[in-house]
Amino acid sequence: MKDKEIVCGFSKLNKDQKLEYISKHFENPADFVSELKSFYHDDPDQQKIFDEFSENTISNFYFPFGIAPNMVIDDNVYHVPMVIEESSVVAAASKSAKFWSDKGGFHTEIISTTKIGQVHFIWHGNIEKLRTLMPDLKDRMLERTASITANMNQRGGGIIDIELVDMTDQIDGYYQLKATFETVDSMGANFINSCLEEFAAELREFFAESPYFKEEERHCEVIMSILSNYTPDCLVKTWVECDVDDLDGIDEELSGEQFAWKFEKAVQIASVDVHRATTHNKGIFNGIDAIALATGNDFRAIEACGHTYAARDGNYRSLTEVKIENGRFIYSLTIPLALGTVGGLTTLHPLAKKSLELLGNPGARDLMRIAASVGLANNFGAIKSLVTKGIQKGHMKMHLLNILNQMGASEEEKDKAKIHFEEEKVSFNAVARFLDKHRNPSEIEKAVYAGK
Ligand code: MEV
Repeated sequence: MKDKEIVCGFSKLNKDQKLEYISKHFENPADFVSELKSFYHDDPDQQKIFDEFSENTISNFYFPFGIAPNMVIDDNVYHVPMVIEESSVVAAASKSAKFWSDKGGFHTEIISTTKIGQVHFIWHGNIEKLRTLMPDLKDRMLERTASITANMNQRGGGIIDIELVDMTDQIDGYYQLKATFETVDSMGANFINSCLEEFAAELREFFAESPYFKEEERHCEVIMSILSNYTPDCLVKTWVECDVDDLDGIDEELSGEQFAWKFEKAVQIASVDVHRATTHNKGIFNGIDAIALATGNDFRAIEACGHTYAARDGNYRSLTEVKIENGRFIYSLTIPLALGTVGGLTTLHPLAKKSLELLGNPGARDLMRIAASVGLANNFGAIKSLVTKGIQKGHMKMHLLNILNQMGASEEEKDKAKIHFEEEKVSFNAVARFLDKHRNPSEIEKAVYAGK
């Protein structure tokens, strides 16, 4: 890389010009351009779709699209699409899916489906008066948003409530209009934000026009109007359960009872220790993010919400819970998931569309059930490995191909390495040594390879 300077008007350049400008930062600009172009879609119309998802696009960044087959959820079988770069996540989900498939699979319950949006404003006036006038203000806001909500109402959604929240004990003059929405199968961000901006406009007019306010109460400063990604009332629960005895054989060295005990301790630790809780929950999001990406959902919103929910009592804790009662092992995940199956990228991204088709074109509620179950599957797989053989054995086996590719191994070398590392511990150094030996065999090894 050469030194970089500040560039003005980059966004005004066309795609080729942007690519050419950026290429100047590489030792070999022509190579850079041709490598980035090699990731363009063959079909220019499809490429245009990708270009227009975002800004200043110069190429596409590929991620693997994998399948975790045979997830039994509420007696339906799903082959779940997962987009993720981390090796062993799809394998872990698949293994857990298989393990639970003959034990009743995953069971789910949608607890609630509402979302929140807020108008944050500063106002100095008589709050009791505003409280009394709230029903009138609410009617005006509903009327003002009628054209925006008409379609959503027809689909069974809309604005559920608008409440006034007094936050003046935190910030001088700070209030909120806190609105609750049902957005049915859409994630609903645009719908919610459009409604909120209308609420804000109505609020300003209300203060300015209403005869009940004194002159000094007529002005309110709207700070911002935006949905909240914290949706604790868009909640799904998923769980697996079996007799503790059915866990016999899950590990060579532990009985079902011993495994259940260790598993329970691991989950308890994630409930009381923030460092462990973070990693524990990360393992859940390995699965949830992967299906969120595959179906064109906003994984950043989903993660932000999940982590906030994990800290809802003031301490950050595990999102899962284990119960061992009357000889039964019950493992559950309760998590807010604001997902959509219509609108946004879900309908625009060609592979998101295919993912949803593969899942039987679910509504948002069913996608919540599936995504939560994949999260639990991944987490179960992680804890199972951690309390038995450890994570690295499986992890490094899956990582072997990445290391081989990084070292430029040929297909023949990869095949040989896969056999060699069936029995050997995988590490970066071990793979380097293996390749070195393979490429520079000793006289004795040459004789062995030659079958002498
Ligand atoms: C790795 O991506 C995820 C784990 O660290 C999760 C966990 O520790 O529970 C294996």
